[in-house]
Amino acid sequence: MTTTSANPETDAMLQARYGDAKALLNGPHSAVIDALLSHRSVRAYADTPLPEGLLDTLMAAAQSASTSSNMQVWSAVAVQDAGRKARLAALAGDQAHVAKAPLLLLFLADLSRLRRIGDAQQAATPGLDYLESFVLGIVDAALAAQNTVVALESLGLGCCFIGAMRNKPAEVAAELGLPPEAFVVFGLTVGYPDPQREAAIRPRLKPQAILHRERYEIPAETEQQLVAEYDGAMHRFQDSQGMPSIDWSRQMMRRVGSPEALMGRHCLRDVLNKLGFKLT
Ligand SMILES: Cc1cc2nc3c(=O)[nH]c(=O)nc-3n(C[C@H](O)[C@H](O)[C@H](O)COP(=O)(O)O)c2cc1C
Repeated sequence: MTTTSANPETDAMLQARYGDAKALLNGPHSAVIDALLSHRSVRAYADTPLPEGLLDTLMAAAQSASTSSNMQVWSAVAVQDAGRKARLAALAGDQAHVAKAPLLLLFLADLSRLRRIGDAQQAATPGLDYLESFVLGIVDAALAAQNTVVALESLGLGCCFIGAMRNKPAEVAAELGLPPEAFVVFGLTVGYPDPQREAAIRPRLKPQAILHRERYEIPAETEQQLVAEYDGAMHRFQDSQGMPSIDWSRQMMRRVGSPEALMGRHCLRDVLNKLGFKLT
């Protein structure tokens, strides 16, 4: 059912997301949209076991995402073994929640399947050598992963993307026994949120900073004002969560301020070549 008026819970979520619920959702509205608005990354998990058959459900949701030309150039690896999770956590910057989550899903850009099909059919597959095919794999993996997020959150589970799986891609590939031309784009930790350490909705830039109508135009002073407002919103969020207080914009400049800040990922092209991707 769609409605045009937001309910108080929706207002509260918009307030959390934008620091301002007014006039932000005047359009059509649905329960699915409420579910999307309520997203927050979960990094603290309860010991509650996962429901039986969860992987089947999540895969059906993931595979229902659109995929470029139906090529399905992505794969997933589900890791539940404690030792393997711990080793992967160590490779991903020692993030404790990677080891603690009962399930770690790795989403792969995977050109190897089409390469194998080509080999079996003795068909040439030079199209897979191009950067475009790699991009397709990344896009497919991301769409499948986001469908997974929406599905698992609808079941009361929580998750967190783990981009740090790209800090040491070759070691991660070896741990998972990946064939050439398969690459972990990111991980996704999955589990029931720890009710003692509930995650909060994290603010975002106002849509005016992101959405352009017809052409990409935003006056410099408008953008600066929106970023300043967002720095303020993030300060309030950080204070409420007991996090270190820092301007979002300054934090982002640190993030892009040196190759080293990419945590090893500045060498990605070389590693991808070693993993068999030609990226022509
Ligand atoms: C591709 C991707 C990689 C991410 N990698 C990590 C990560 O390695 N560790 C982590 O704790 N969070 C990671 N995150 C979570 C983001 O920090 C989080 O989505 C962002 O701060 C917004 O917070 P929210 O998801 O709670 O709204 C990642 C998110 C994405 C989309």
